[in-house]
Amino acid sequence: MKNVLMKCLMALWVAAGLVSCASGAKEDATEKKIDDLLRQMTLEEKIGQMNQLQGVGYNEDMVSQIREGGVGSILNDLNPDTINMLQRVAVEETRLGIPLVFARDVIHGFKTIFPIPLGQAAGWNVDLVEQGARIAAYEATSVGIRWTFAPMIDVSRDPRWGRIAESCGEDTYLNAVMGAAMIRGFQGESLSDPRSMAACAKHFAAYGASESGKDYNTTNIPERLLRDVYLPPFKAAVDAGAATFMCSFNDIDGVPSSGNKWLNIDVLRQEWGYDGMLVSDWGSIEQMIPHHFCSDLKDAAHKAAIAGVDMDMMGFAYITHLKSLVEEGVVKESVIDEAVRNILRLKFRLGLFDNPYVAVVDTLPFYQPASLEVAQRVAAESAILLKNNNVLPLKSFNRVAVVGPLADAPKDQVGTWCFDAEPEHCVTPMQAIKERYGNKVVAVPGLTYSRDTNKQGIAQAVAAARSADVVLFFAGEESLLTGEAHCRADLTLPGAQTEMLKALKATGKPVVMIVMTGRPMVITEEVELADAVIYSFHAGTMAGPGLADVIFGDVVPSGKLPATLPLMTGQVPVYYAHKNTGRPAADMILIDDIPVGAAQSSLGFTSFHLDAGDSPLFPFGYGLSYTTFDYSPVTLSAAEMTVDGTIEATCTITNTGKYDADEVIQFYIGDKVASVARPVKELKGFKKLHIESGESVTVAFDITAEQLAFTRLDMTRGTEPGEFDVWIASDSRGGEPVTFVLK
Ligand code: NOJ
Repeated sequence: MKNVLMKCLMALWVAAGLVSCASGAKEDATEKKIDDLLRQMTLEEKIGQMNQLQGVGYNEDMVSQIREGGVGSILNDLNPDTINMLQRVAVEETRLGIPLVFARDVIHGFKTIFPIPLGQAAGWNVDLVEQGARIAAYEATSVGIRWTFAPMIDVSRDPRWGRIAESCGEDTYLNAVMGAAMIRGFQGESLSDPRSMAACAKHFAAYGASESGKDYNTTNIPERLLRDVYLPPFKAAVDAGAATFMCSFNDIDGVPSSGNKWLNIDVLRQEWGYDGMLVSDWGSIEQMIPHHFCSDLKDAAHKAAIAGVDMDMMGFAYITHLKSLVEEGVVKESVIDEAVRNILRLKFRLGLFDNPYVAVVDTLPFYQPASLEVAQRVAAESAILLKNNNVLPLKSFNRVAVVGPLADAPKDQVGTWCFDAEPEHCVTPMQAIKERYGNKVVAVPGLTYSRDTNKQGIAQAVAAARSADVVLFFAGEESLLTGEAHCRADLTLPGAQTEMLKALKATGKPVVMIVMTGRPMVITEEVELADAVIYSFHAGTMAGPGLADVIFGDVVPSGKLPATLPLMTGQVPVYYAHKNTGRPAADMILIDDIPVGAAQSSLGFTSFHLDAGDSPLFPFGYGLSYTTFDYSPVTLSAAEMTVDGTIEATCTITNTGKYDADEVIQFYIGDKVASVARPVKELKGFKKLHIESGESVTVAFDITAEQLAFTRLDMTRGTEPGEFDVWIASDSRGGEPVTFVLK
């Protein structure tokens, strides 16, 4: 099926004349053209290229600014006619005819919306993620958008942070792999293909570590942690050819990223050899003033320019102050030239000098059947089965009650960061289930939105439940409670949803809870109450049909958690790749079991919370199926390896249940002793395989020195000899390790 869909899409692209050719490292011919242009540009024209403005349609002020060479890029204009009109001013009415590049946040789809990135990561299907990004590019470029501000590859270990929705979760490797897939999808085989968009790896860097999960907050990350956990997805983005990077809003140890020369120049440019373009975040140059890092806008322009920020997104710092900073000798013109080089290189790579305009067509390629099919499949694959007391899949029933505030909430199911989504094109779970089962369905929301505390409607939902054989309770969060600046200190279900679940449960009917949300939530009590639980991160346009496929067994669930589900909010941050501590949890006595008046020392001295213990509700990588899988012990091709060799870890996985199904096979390594304490284990690979009922497959993962490398005590990156543990398992808690020695 996957191949058929891809072939369909490819056929469409080829039919549209979208034959790709490779883009890549700096090309001499392009560099020469950039030099030629730079030689002709005035200082004002150079600074104009570094200025990105918010689109306001075809507006006279904007037009004259473009005509004077004062604008390099526009974000958020979406009308192809306006885009072409503005482009015509840039190309035909400016002295040097340098085209503009039009940008937009196309994060998880443009019109056809795919699950939020956290949900896409939950599907662990790299090919599908790439296809989703390709479809997004296909739709967005049709109106003239050639630059998207995605993927967001901030490792996110704090579900209070609203933007965890936009990330691929808590793991470094998963963010790296999924981010690279999105980059390949957005950029296609060639950036100069008019159906390709420049990707933007963001937010550089460590924004996901905002203290207390509160947006824009400070981060305190030692360089080793930064290099080992937060930076690798960005290095992978460079390797995948990401055309642009974006600065993060946060400071790291007191230095805001838009003023961080070490990060933007020493690491990104010099260590990694990046030759793409670095844009600030919205106003992030100017915001170095409230950060207490810059005295005024001029100081901010100075610090950002010398820190290697090429383009100022809506900060007006460069356009207002760079000229005088150069004339005063504070900023060298060579700094400006370097930034402009990076901007012009992007425009050449996008083919904008040869093909600046968007072809205006009568029928835009939105919501094509093949695209919707991919969206439905991603929605189904990203659903995670957390619990199942033999209720699912639903096969025979006379009546099903569809209740809960998320059952028919099209705007919420698309999730955060999709300004261009059209709720009328969304198929909700209620619609999808009614379409399948018509008059067998009784639908009553009970609560009208997730925060609703008005319990009057619950009685009707309970009556519906009583009249049915089984209850589908669609709970969760409105999309509004997630995303940028939408952080929560309490991760439990909002409103009266838990009370509603209790009332449904009291009917004695089996209750399936489907959580539709933008973050890992605390659903400890609800998991206990429900007979089955499916966890779905806001799953986009086709959330309804995708979830229905899983509920009724057309698709066997295969999603796995891309981030740990906490047992209590106070455990946060809680993640699998933690350090062991000197006193790992042992012999825990939890709060309810402590005798009154017990001696202070009677509870032991190990690392756990008295009220939450040491385990989350569900670990990273967790997810059930309708079938069962048996994992054999792991075998290694050798017990020892050298730094220039590899060994192979193998495991045989048998589908011991009744359903053919996909399984995400996860490969973890843990370094037992090192010059600095290492995480207990880290994901180093995974494979998603289809295994038929009764079938056994043997899966092999290569172990290489690169997987064992880390930032050592002396801050160099490399390996250290010693013992390592290896797991091949179905989640981060499973499996028995085997050990090998690196010589
Ligand atoms: C601010 C956000 O942090 C960033 O992710 C986004 O791309 C820009 N605004 C542009 O909308």
